[in-house]
Amino acid sequence: MLRAVLRTLGHSALRGPRQQVFALGSRGWCNGGGGGDGGGEGRCGPPRAGDGRACFTTPIFYVNAAPHIGHLYSALLADALARYRRLGTELPQGPDPAASLVRFSTGTDEHGLKIQQAAAAAGLTPSELCDRVSAQFRALFQEAGISVTDFLRTTEARHRRAVYHFWEVLRARGLLYKGLYEGWYCASDECFLPEGKVAWRPGPDGESRPVALESGHPVCWTKEENYIFRLSQFRDPLRQWLQDDPQAITPDPFRHTVLQWLEEDLPDLSVSRGNSHLYWGLPVPGDPTQTIYVWVDALVNYLTVIGYPDSEHKVWWPTTHHIIGKDILKFHAIYWPALLLGAGMTPPHRIYVHSHWTVHGQKMSKSLGNVVDPLTCLDRFTVDGFRYFLLRQGVPNWDCDYYEQKVVKLLDAELADALGGLLNRCTASSLNPTGIFPVFSTSCFPSMEGVTVAPTKAQPEDYALVRSVSALPLQVKSYYENFQIYKALEAVSTCVRQTNGFVQRNAPWKLNRENLADAQWMDTVLHVTLECLRVFGTLLQPVTPALADRLLSRLGISETERGLQDIGFLARYYGQPCPFEGRRLGPDTGLLFPRLDKSRARLAKVHST
Ligand code: MSP
Repeated sequence: MLRAVLRTLGHSALRGPRQQVFALGSRGWCNGGGGGDGGGEGRCGPPRAGDGRACFTTPIFYVNAAPHIGHLYSALLADALARYRRLGTELPQGPDPAASLVRFSTGTDEHGLKIQQAAAAAGLTPSELCDRVSAQFRALFQEAGISVTDFLRTTEARHRRAVYHFWEVLRARGLLYKGLYEGWYCASDECFLPEGKVAWRPGPDGESRPVALESGHPVCWTKEENYIFRLSQFRDPLRQWLQDDPQAITPDPFRHTVLQWLEEDLPDLSVSRGNSHLYWGLPVPGDPTQTIYVWVDALVNYLTVIGYPDSEHKVWWPTTHHIIGKDILKFHAIYWPALLLGAGMTPPHRIYVHSHWTVHGQKMSKSLGNVVDPLTCLDRFTVDGFRYFLLRQGVPNWDCDYYEQKVVKLLDAELADALGGLLNRCTASSLNPTGIFPVFSTSCFPSMEGVTVAPTKAQPEDYALVRSVSALPLQVKSYYENFQIYKALEAVSTCVRQTNGFVQRNAPWKLNRENLADAQWMDTVLHVTLECLRVFGTLLQPVTPALADRLLSRLGISETERGLQDIGFLARYYGQPCPFEGRRLGPDTGLLFPRLDKSRARLAKVHST
């Protein structure tokens, strides 16, 4: 009975040419119609990211409530990708060289009904609420080491200018018309819903009420005249984009979801609301009775931060990587690319999608009282510890569950015991009294496995370690390229374990420094181990920047020797000079990562007394 009805109200004064052709040209993405300003080199041809530039974005966060660990996870994934990209970039000289090739933006999404209602409920003006919560996100990201180069608020003037420009381009290209929209609207999710996505469920008072099927949030029936975007024209171009660029949306199951959506009904999209319901937003240019739909407003943030509408954006847009949660896939993978194509631009270069964190198996929500405060976690587990946990345990393809014991167990095992223990053992003055990066002996560890002439000491497992750690940087690179940061960390952790096995097997503490052969082998074992640690430290920088800095500093590796181009493992084994050999190690600054679960230490004390 209740059905969304979209009805065109004849010719609007605002309407431009009715039909545009959006198709693939022989060289890639082109728009057939004139009048757009996607402009210049960005208009035809597939997106290029060839000159080493990259722009990473997080979603911009709603300011209706304080940040939680799910928000931090979105930002951390983007941060690790941006930091990894910087590591691999030969930086030009300049005051802020990193910012010149890698951009990274985040910010807050401050307009819309959701914020308007949250402010009213909190007894604040929307602008007071925005200032308060936006500052909380900014402080959290600063605390967590999120290395953004821009933090955008949608209430800023530069953003208003970008949105108005974008709107005008769509209007001039005949893609907006005025029509009657009638259907369900969910203020919490800020989206329109077809009848099939709405269910009736008992509310807090026991009365049955309509809710969004997926999120469970209440919905309202809306009927009003709006501006409408001709989304339905974009089904084929969107399908073709995803067929031509199989990596456009990663992981692949999410690309399939989008392709599936494109098989379903794709009605035109209402892109404004009457300002009598929604006053907290940007008025439609030339029609102050209407407010621009918050998702159009929000999505344009990705252009604002690269300087749109000024021509600067044209070099950055083809390199943009969006990191988003699965709940906002449709907005980013259907509405946004369609709006961009409509404006004469290319779809985003990459959309990386992640799943959600639950807490003890339940969705996090204020009403359940199970929202995990990220600042408390950073404080309890340290910044590096919590960053490591979320990125090591967070698998983009499916939801992950959070509970404290899991964090303690993982960090104690992998950072405190395995990595910290390894560094501690191999830099201790008992084993390395001179504090010098020890010399590698090619006769103890010849580069040809199987050479058995004395005094060769290395065994097949030792060669296996060299092979694993030599392969690690490329493995990690491929995991980063496929948005599998958790796998990169798993691979590092496996190598750390293997290195511990190497040290344990060769037990340098049992060797006698007075004996030349023993001393040579001891130094070789320590040299190999410190080289492994250098590779691990270099590769961990995007995830645990402060811990990696401590580790590399302890090894005496200077800041200019920590890029991916400097990683070359065990040069001496491969017949090359090693720049670190014979160099003084850095000062001992204590434990790399203190154990969180002190009970084992306490237990050991009890037993020893
Ligand atoms: N304002 C929109 C995004 C507009 S982008 C043009 C929005 N904001 S949000 O604050 O609700 O969500 C921001 C990000 O946090 C999304 O990527 C979302 O998926 C992510 N998360 C929200 N809850 C989450 C979890 N429980 N777990 C992991 N990520 C979660 O949507």
